[in-house]
Order: sequence, then C-alpha cells, then structure tokens
Amino acid sequence: MAKNTLTLIDNRVDKTYEIEIESATIRAKDLRQIKVTEDEFGMMSYDPSFENTASCKSGITFIDGDKGILRYRGYPIEQLAESSNQLEVSKLLIDGELPNEKEFRKWQLDIQSNNAVPEPIKDIIQAFPKNAHPMGTLISLVAALSTFYPEAKNITNDKENYLNICRLIAQVPILAAHFYRHSQNLTLIPPDNSLSYAENLLNMMFDGDEKKLHPNIVDAMDKLLILHADHEQNCSASVMRNVGSSEPDPYSSVSAAASALYGPLHGGANEAVLEMLGDIQTADDIRSFLDKVQNKEVKLMGFGHRVYKAYDPRAKCIKKAADSVFAITGTNPLLDIALQLESIALSEEYFIARNLYPNVDFYSGLIYQSMGIPTEMFTVLFAIGRTAGWLAQWKELLSDDEQKIARPRQIYTGYGSRNYIDVSKR
Ligand code: CMC
Repeated sequence: MAKNTLTLIDNRVDKTYEIEIESATIRAKDLRQIKVTEDEFGMMSYDPSFENTASCKSGITFIDGDKGILRYRGYPIEQLAESSNQLEVSKLLIDGELPNEKEFRKWQLDIQSNNAVPEPIKDIIQAFPKNAHPMGTLISLVAALSTFYPEAKNITNDKENYLNICRLIAQVPILAAHFYRHSQNLTLIPPDNSLSYAENLLNMMFDGDEKKLHPNIVDAMDKLLILHADHEQNCSASVMRNVGSSEPDPYSSVSAAASALYGPLHGGANEAVLEMLGDIQTADDIRSFLDKVQNKEVKLMGFGHRVYKAYDPRAKCIKKAADSVFAITGTNPLLDIALQLESIALSEEYFIARNLYPNVDFYSGLIYQSMGIPTEMFTVLFAIGRTAGWLAQWKELLSDDEQKIARPRQIYTGYGSRNYIDVSKR
C-alpha cells in the first residue's frame, strides 16, 4: 500500500530519511534531522517571500487560485456578496458560522454600543495635516486607540478580546470618515445606529447627501466591504499574525496590518490603478502603455496575483456591482479605458504566458471614484473591509496551540568575525 511519506536521500553522506506528509505538506522542522555531522544545525528550507510555505492551519478562507474560487468559511464569495451584508460576514469570519437573527441582533448591538471613539482621538485628528495620506492617519489612529484601552493587552481574556474586536469593527470606519471630513474642512459626523454598516460609513463621510447615499451606492459599498473582508494568508494578514504572535494588544496588530496593506503591491493597488488610468488618458495611449509593461518599465496595476492564476472572482463581482453604481452616477469616463486595457491585455502573449488577470483592485477604484470618494481614500476603504478578516486571523492564531512567536531563520551571507577598527583608521 502507498505510504503517506516522502523519502529523501542526502547524497552528501548517502543517507535516507522518511518524512511524514500531511495535506500534501511536509513539516519544515522535519528537515532539521538532515545533517552531515552531529554538531550541524540541520537542513532548513529557503523560501523568500513565502511563495511555497504554509505558516498556519486555517479554517477561515479557502482559495483555489487555478479555478478562481474564493470562499469564506465554506460559503462562495459570490453568494455572500449577493445576499449577505458586511456585519453578518464579519461575524461569519470571526466566529465561524452565519449568525441566526438573535445572534445577529446581539452582534449588531455590541458593535453599535462600542462606537464612541475616545474624545481625545478627535483632537489627534485635528492635528493631522489636511493633505496627509489617509492611510498614514488610519495607521496612527488605530495604534493610538490602544493607549485608550490599556486592558486590551490582556489577550488571554476572551471577554476582553471580544470587546476589542467590537470596538475595532465599530471604530475603524469612524476614524476613516472623521479624517476624511477633517481633510475637507467639514464638521465631523457622528455614527448613526439607525443605519446599516455601509450606509453609516457613507453618511459619516457625506452627511445625508441623498445622491451619495442612494440605495444602489450603499449596496455597492456593502458588497465591496464583503469582497475585501478576508483573503487568507496575504501580506497584511501575515503581518497581523506575525505581530499578534508576540502578543501585543489587537490595536497594535491591526495598525501593523494596515501598514502592510498600504503598499501599492497590496491594498494600495486600487489607488495606483486610478493614477495609471489617469496617466493613460485616451484609448490611443493603451498600446504604448502595454509596450512599456512588456518591456518591464512599468506594471499593469490591478493585474496579477500571487495565488490566482485565473480571473479573480472578486473582480467579477465588482464588475457586476459597477453597473448599478454607474446607473446612478453616470459612467466613469475611465471605464472605457479600463475595459479596453483589460481586453487587449488578456489577448496578449505576455499576460497569457504569466496567467495575469484583473484582480480585485482593477475595477474597485472606478466605483469608488464614481461614488465621489477621493483616490487617497480607496485603500482606507479596503482596510475597513479587511479589519474583520485581520481580527478573524488573529482570533484563530490565539486559539492555535501550535503557534509560537513568529521567528523566521536566515541564510547568513555577511562577513565572518572581524575586529573593530577605530574611526581614525578607517
Ligand atoms: N504587470 C506586469 N507584469 C506583471 C504583473 C503586472 N501587474 N504582475 C506580475 N507580472 C509579471 C512579473 O514581472 C513576472 O514576470 P517574469 O516571470 O518575466 O519575471 C511574472 O509576472 C510573475 O510575477 P511575480 O512578480 O513573480 O508575481 P508575485 O506573485 O510575486 O506578485 C503581485 C503578485 C500582485 C504583487 C503582482 O502581480 C503585482 O505587482 N501586481 C500589480 C499590483 C497589484 O495589482 N496588486 C494588487 C493585488 S490583489 C489585492 C490584494 O489582495 O492586495
């Protein structure tokens, strides 16, 4: 009978090892027994950027990158985007099951009753330059929350953790909307518990503006938050887990995860796509732009993904949601350029050979822009949706007995030992 093991032969010493396989994976630590001499450290695996390393076992999000499948807790993303709402999806991600009506009402109430940001936070917001990047302010403000909730560092206390999860889900959108209002010289709008999560966010930004709070727009915002809510061990979720593994309070970990999201290769791509489409300007410029991409002078932002080697299912859902927004706001003039860019790119050998397809960020910015949201706020919206996923990853980490402080190894390539030289002799 076939055995669930891997046999390795170390040709340096002609020695054979048999290593257990679980879920088509071997434990990197099993390699440590492979050594030439007893006093050696033992073999490691080298995996820059973790392209082929599983850092945890997780029951939250499933992705099949070849087939373009994404599920939260087993539920297909398309069904959740169509029928659920952001608060329900947050509960699903964090606690593992869709809530019944009573559970949902309690969850909603717990979030709403924790939505008073500490008053001094508003003074901190006033101190930021109005032209500051909203991601810089969000990262700072989430970290600042930890100073007002010092008990949050008691991460072995489930009640305390639940309270801080509720505060983060409630307050991250408030921090974002309050800074937006400050940047526009407008008065801050407090949260309104009679509104849904998405409508409340839009209302705190746009203060009852009926066009910007149209049901189609609220619905699209809700879908966008759901589509961004989790994506298994991506860069920011890994940061959430890495920072969380040293056991600080969750505000510090979420702030660190948001910093990871900020970059243009991750959540910052939505902003970069809009800048790119703005630079292309007309359909006539697409050819020369794609030539530059193929010469590796620039990247086609919003394309490509570490895991998806097929169309990102989130991008499909976003394309659908776009129509209902454009029906209210009128078509975004950059949409035609985006559609043509996509269609030409998908037919070219460079993109076909590398399995490069639009990702979640290719179309999301066009919707946000049509909703009247400034480009610099796009990644902040991603962070608001993703907060639930980060917290779900953090909660799972805390309950995983196999996890310890994250501490990768290195292959040292620097100098051997050498003596200090006085500055006068250098
Ligand atoms: N434009 C042009 N070429 C690309 C692109 C792109 N957007 N993405 C990948 N490639 C090329 C890359 O140059 C490489 O070519 P070669 O084999 O000749 O060296 C090949 O495709 C494989 O790419 P890679 O860089 O090894 O892939 P990766 O898994 O390390 O990077 C990525 C994934 C998302 C960082 C990358 O595709 C990228 O930079 N995309 C643009 C930024 C972007 O849209 N990011 C949002 C990701 S989805 C939202 C999120 O969850 O963050």
